[in-house]
Amino acid sequence: MKENELEYYSKVANWDFSEIKYEEEYLTDWEYFDQIKKNTNEKSLCLDIGTGGGEKVLKKYPNVRMLIATDFSKEMVYTAKENAKKYPEKNVKFGVMDNLKMTFPGELFDLVSARHTVIDAKQIYNCLTKGGVLVIEGVDQKDCWELKKLFRKGQGYKDKKALSEKDYEDLLNAGFSKVEKVKIKINEYYKTEEDLMALLLKVPILDDFSEIEDSFEEHLKSIDQDIFEEYVKKFKTEKGILLERVLYGIVARK
Ligand SMILES: C[S@@+](CC[C@H](N)C(=O)[O-])C[C@H]1O[C@@H](n2cnc3c(N)ncnc32)[C@H](O)[C@@H]1O
Repeated sequence: MKENELEYYSKVANWDFSEIKYEEEYLTDWEYFDQIKKNTNEKSLCLDIGTGGGEKVLKKYPNVRMLIATDFSKEMVYTAKENAKKYPEKNVKFGVMDNLKMTFPGELFDLVSARHTVIDAKQIYNCLTKGGVLVIEGVDQKDCWELKKLFRKGQGYKDKKALSEKDYEDLLNAGFSKVEKVKIKINEYYKTEEDLMALLLKVPILDDFSEIEDSFEEHLKSIDQDIFEEYVKKFKTEKGILLERVLYGIVARK
């Protein structure tokens, strides 16, 4: 477990972006919750790892028999349990667990989902039933590339091998029989500079956890205002300030 990453997420303690005003334009047609829906039914037992404050799963997970949703930050899990009170009809239980030290018995879950979080391919393989499915959405190295190029840093900026490639190979090596990977492109338009800055202050787009040595407070000060202004000037459009998101989606079957 990376302690600085745990500290970061525990201080943020939610993954709620409802205050930030932006619009999304999907340029590809792969959607994470559609893939989960396609591969589950009302009898499925599912696991969502690195679930954050449960904001996404509570709103978007399809109807299944039971969803277990975990995060390594107990603050995130506290928020998720609070959020769950607004969704009494959902069959979901939240609990603390490290994705890299999973503690479930083998062959338990029909589907495991992981959105924008770290995975261990072998551990997921072990806890899936035969024929069970893993659905991943991850952040590609080329995500927000123009922004990272200007700042000369950011999530995965210096990686020799993109995370999407590593995940793909790890899944095949873990024994998954069928692994499909797709590229997801989304244009996000932020209404104002303040909205874009609020995003950058909250998410680790411009930080690579392996590079953060400073405290969380230092991270908040680490966004150079002049470079930020340069980006805004260059990417201001009629729809808002453009941020080009590049993600990857994987569906893997045991
Ligand atoms: C970018 S957020 C994504 C949250 C949620 N999946 C979503 O899509 O809204 C990443 C989450 O993964 C969690 N996380 C990171 N490393 C983890 C680990 N080793 N084990 C469990 N959770 C982890 C963080 O605490 C955080 O809540």
